[in-house]
Amino acid sequence: ICRGLSSSAVRHVVIKNVTIIGGGQMGAGIAQVAASTGHAVTLVDTNEDILKKAVKGIEGNLKRVVKKKFADKPEAGEEFLQKAMQNVSISTDAGSVVQGTDLVVEAIVENLKVKQDLFGGLDKLAPAHTIFASNTSSLSITDIASSTNRLDRFGGLHFFNPVPVMRLVEVIATSSTSQETFDSLLNFSKMLGKTSVSCKDTPGFIVNRLLLPYILDAVRMYERGDGSKEDIDIAMKLGCGYPMGPFELSDYVGLDTMKFIMDGWSAANPDNPMFAQSEVLNKLVAEGKFGKKTGEGFYKYK
Ligand code: NAI
Repeated sequence: ICRGLSSSAVRHVVIKNVTIIGGGQMGAGIAQVAASTGHAVTLVDTNEDILKKAVKGIEGNLKRVVKKKFADKPEAGEEFLQKAMQNVSISTDAGSVVQGTDLVVEAIVENLKVKQDLFGGLDKLAPAHTIFASNTSSLSITDIASSTNRLDRFGGLHFFNPVPVMRLVEVIATSSTSQETFDSLLNFSKMLGKTSVSCKDTPGFIVNRLLLPYILDAVRMYERGDGSKEDIDIAMKLGCGYPMGPFELSDYVGLDTMKFIMDGWSAANPDNPMFAQSEVLNKLVAEGKFGKKTGEGFYKYK
């Protein structure tokens, strides 16, 4: 590893080798961005077919990027594509991969126990300097980190879907995250070409903590009959300049995911009306209408 001086003269680990665990939507997106910004990336999943699909997806996306960005320089475009793809390897064995890695970014299933088991195991195998980060949307980074003995080298890197398009990364520090680790994560986000914001380890960090109650408030407004979902969506788009209305955004995020997050917060804060149950949301989820991914949520999709 190399160590460099950041602008604030605080030392940070320069991250070159990255292990991304979870080859789903988020993991594949993070791998794509990290590989195209010159990092050596190993994408890990328990399922080999998912990994093959992820690599195909990354290549397809990068081909589209190259076509647009290098329209008048096809040779440079081909070189960029080749280099980025050479930076990606895949593995189903996280334990052996982390032995040579500077940073582990975890993007597996949103389940505390599963994430703790994964990190607890990797903690024994990864070198001392390796930083661990979780991309969790709703769990506490402190709780996830508690399965390891590297609390000072553990933080959150919360990306947004789709990762190659969305420009933000929330960088999360727990009360034990060291300044060096935090600066390394900020620097890594910058190297990915993203803008980062600093967050404390509070439920939902910044974006989801403000977004989910807003969406739920819109659903409650619709439940009371104070506005149709179409009108609420139009109102927030044209009145606030939001690219999507709250119902369109819910269908995009996934109603099951939203319910899962809200249920977790509501269990931890049963008296907070902001996290109270919504009948309409519960009914749609019980019917398997999760949004775009299932063809129906608040709206129907072809
Ligand atoms: P996904 O379901 O698309 O992908 C998860 C992948 O993890 C699957 O391919 C699964 O095979 C793999 N996996 C599960 N357990 C594993 C293990 N022990 N070791 C290795 N691989 C394992 O999920 P998605 O949407 O990519 O989400 C992943 C994480 O990112 C979750 O924590 C989620 O909360 C978070 N997140 C999701 C966002 C979204 O919009 N989907 C946005 C920001 C964060």
